[in-house]
Amino acid sequence: MKKETSIATAIGKIILIGEHAVVYGQPALAIPFPETKIKTIINREKGPVSLECYFYKGLFSKAPDRLLGLTTIVREIVSSFNEKLKDFNITIESSILPERGMGSSAAVAVATVKALYDFFNRPLTEEDLFKWSNMSEKIVHGNPSGIDTAIIIGEKPLYYVKGKPFIPFPFELDAYLVVADTGELGETQAAVSAVKKMVDSNPHKVKPLIRQLGNLTRAAMDSIEKGDIVRLGMIMNNAHAILDELGVSNEKLNYFVSVATKNGALGAKLTGGGRGGCMIALAASKEEAEFICKKLILSGAENTWISNMGVDRK
Ligand code: PMV
Repeated sequence: MKKETSIATAIGKIILIGEHAVVYGQPALAIPFPETKIKTIINREKGPVSLECYFYKGLFSKAPDRLLGLTTIVREIVSSFNEKLKDFNITIESSILPERGMGSSAAVAVATVKALYDFFNRPLTEEDLFKWSNMSEKIVHGNPSGIDTAIIIGEKPLYYVKGKPFIPFPFELDAYLVVADTGELGETQAAVSAVKKMVDSNPHKVKPLIRQLGNLTRAAMDSIEKGDIVRLGMIMNNAHAILDELGVSNEKLNYFVSVATKNGALGAKLTGGGRGGCMIALAASKEEAEFICKKLILSGAENTWISNMGVDRK
């Protein structure tokens, strides 16, 4: 029987450590961030396909280029089903701000692929979900490591190495993660290209930095396993310093890192592509996390969230 409506959701993600280095084969750690969500709703409706989302409302065929990742996979999926691109509309509701390093583009792709498969009554394997979502990410980001797609599909803390099977890891830290939005759009693609240029033009200086980031990720994993939040905080600070050296931080991110660490954070760093987007900070207690959030808001943060990293984390 034909479906009238299909709804699917996907949650956001936070890269704890390892961004950028992960593009070069180093590991990264990412955790789901259920505080933010994407919901795709597909409704049967006669006529040409329409699309409504954060950036655009109108005919699907006239969607702007910035939505090319999404529109390409919708076309390809419908065509792979031997169905026609008509008689339905797509609405994407989002509490994940775009271009903030929270994985909004991957979450939009994951939710939309799931909704389309359901709407057309096709069984969806995890392999296909990854393939389509990463196809969209390639269009959006150029050369993605795949970490966003992997974490958003798996919804479990992940130790990720590009091209390797995903390794979920137990994550039961007695600590809180503060996430602060700079209000500035991140520039993942530009930042990834800039790092590549540095690697190509100055490999002797830059490759060791990438390897150091990889070592910090391994040390972070070890600290998480041992429950050593003080060491994890120091590792986050070190990772931020290297990311700054790689040119992917900016003034506001550096300022937020200093506000967080001056106000009791065990460590702080940018998260995701950088040059805008969000900063994360580690706090030993909920009260300290709330205090840090207050200070960050007073310092110009657009929004803050507190994520429980402990056993009762959803
Ligand atoms: O900005 P985000 O959340 O899409 O994260 C990008 C992470 C990078 O390591 C910079 C790029 C990648 O593809 O892994």
